[in-house]
Amino acid sequence: MSLRPVVRVVRGMETSDGAGVRLTRMLGTPELPDLDPFLMLDNFKSDSPDDYLAGFPDHPHRGFETVTYMLAGAMEHRDHRGNRGLLGPGSVQWMTAGRGIVHSEMPRQENGLMWGFQLWINLPAKLKMCEPRYQDLAADRIPERSVGAAKVRVIAGRSGDIVGAVQEIYTDPLFLDVALPAGESFEHAVPAGHSAFACAFEGAVSFDGHPWPVQAGQLAVFGDGDAVKATAGEDGGRFILLAAQPIKEPVARYGPFVMNTRQELEQAFADFRSGRF
Ligand code: CO
Repeated sequence: MSLRPVVRVVRGMETSDGAGVRLTRMLGTPELPDLDPFLMLDNFKSDSPDDYLAGFPDHPHRGFETVTYMLAGAMEHRDHRGNRGLLGPGSVQWMTAGRGIVHSEMPRQENGLMWGFQLWINLPAKLKMCEPRYQDLAADRIPERSVGAAKVRVIAGRSGDIVGAVQEIYTDPLFLDVALPAGESFEHAVPAGHSAFACAFEGAVSFDGHPWPVQAGQLAVFGDGDAVKATAGEDGGRFILLAAQPIKEPVARYGPFVMNTRQELEQAFADFRSGRF
């Protein structure tokens, strides 16, 4: 196995989205605009209701996939096709927006901690106009396994003999939530040639080939190789590990639409405005 080195570490950018939800954008910033096929990663974490109660009222998407992974709190999803889902701690929603969806994502709590991630993953030209699809997975449907001392939740992709809960995604993603006790190490295969990153969200984690630990709230981008090795700091560490196959097509994006050309973006706006989603 050749271990993937860390080639960059970024801290993310404080911002707000939706109707004023405060969050930290880890990917999709001027510092790290994208990591093909990953377009965006937001980490929302607050125990102050003013930061999240306004939620994400009705808004459209076209041309890519949105993934929500909840760590704490509850969020309700509704869309214009009548789908409805409640996301609790540890659950995942993988939405393939395809040709178009108009949805809302609203908190279902009035106080307490709201914590999770939203990830955007691109679709290739041939699937941008596909029928929308949901994979809603409650926490108990996500397989967990031990890798040495590490506890691993397998959201997508393969970990040992375990196949992740989310399946049949074009970019063949690996999405793991890894919890490592203090001082313990973890090594995991990551397909060579796939883009890969880890975002620490508790404690600190040292990755091979990087001189200092990646702290909670930091994202590490990996260079190529076929495995990742992590060692937790003295307070332990927890991180999400993502990898996926690059699409290598032109990207034209504006707000909630991600297409290949400017003309397709204009068409997306026109279709949305005239109610053709
Ligand atoms: Co959305």
